Amino acid sequence: MPRALITGISGQDGSYLSEFLLSKGYEIHGIVRRKAIEDPRHGLWRFSSEMIDNITLHIGSLDSYPSLYDCVSKAKPDEIYHLAACSFVSYSMEEEFSTLDINLTGTHHLLSATKANAPDCRFYFAGSSEMFGDARECPQNENSSFHPRSVYGISKLAGFHLVRNYRENHALKACTGILFNHESPRRGFEFVTRKITSQAARIKLGLADSLELGNLDAERDWGHSRDYVKAMWLMLQKEELDDYVISTGISHSVRCYCEKAFAHLGLDYRDYVKTKENLFRASETTPLRGDSSKAAKELGWKPEISFDQMIAEMVDAELADLQ
Ligand code: GDD
Repeated sequence: MPRALITGISGQDGSYLSEFLLSKGYEIHGIVRRKAIEDPRHGLWRFSSEMIDNITLHIGSLDSYPSLYDCVSKAKPDEIYHLAACSFVSYSMEEEFSTLDINLTGTHHLLSATKANAPDCRFYFAGSSEMFGDARECPQNENSSFHPRSVYGISKLAGFHLVRNYRENHALKACTGILFNHESPRRGFEFVTRKITSQAARIKLGLADSLELGNLDAERDWGHSRDYVKAMWLMLQKEELDDYVISTGISHSVRCYCEKAFAHLGLDYRDYVKTKENLFRASETTPLRGDSSKAAKELGWKPEISFDQMIAEMVDAELADLQ
């Protein structure tokens, strides 16, 4: 039975990836912070109790090399999926320091612990379209130049180079998935898609009367997390590991997302959505749209869940939760 170790297992992607790997017969190990185990109702809300019984959780933290060393040596994984990160693209100075610190040092700790304890293990690193930032071309593929415009994007780009360095100089079987935005009903509430679907459902039920957003014209290439975790797994099944852009190839505006989410509830977003200057990002990126033709050709991967299906699933899940 192959063994997988997942950092960030309690997040959106970690939970879908665990379900996917379990269905493939994997033994699943996950690294979580102590507080997630002490308060599972909040820390592990994305997992059913049946799922929790099927996975082995280890307490560890990205800022602690000894804890990661211990987790890798205990789990003895065949595959590591490094998903944990400060993942909200923030521009506040205070968060910039911790984002860079945790994302970069944590990746370094884990790579080093893997090299020491499981040198034959295959290692997946969650990169991001934020690495392209103010992209010089559209769509972006694996050969596009990087120009991150947030400290989060810089931390992911530095992690990408670290991973490549461990692959080239330390013979670690490691790769990076450059994933564009991916959403689901398990998305955190701070991200715009979940903010829209949760508030739209509350408005529908008379629990709220408006939704405040930033730039409605910002565009993103939004796919579904359930599709994207399959790509992570496919990347690690290749004989020679390589880096791939994972995206739908179609971008939409925040406005379009609002329009469809509210319309699914029989509402017109223009009656409820207000823009607030303080929710605009200081340095908005060029429209990000990915070109995943390399993944289609070499991994046989393509997204299966459409934009409209994803929005409908998210809105329906909000309604079901609230009701
Ligand atoms: N969060 C948020 N809140 N975003 C808003 C709002 C708002 O009220 N109004 C407009 N937006 C716009 C943002 O300016 C941005 O252009 C877009 O909505 C998406 O924002 P987020 O959902 O916060 O995601 P992100 O694109 O910054 O980053 C996500 O995707 C990356 C690429 O996969 C995160 O998941 C990153 O961790 C990930 O790497």
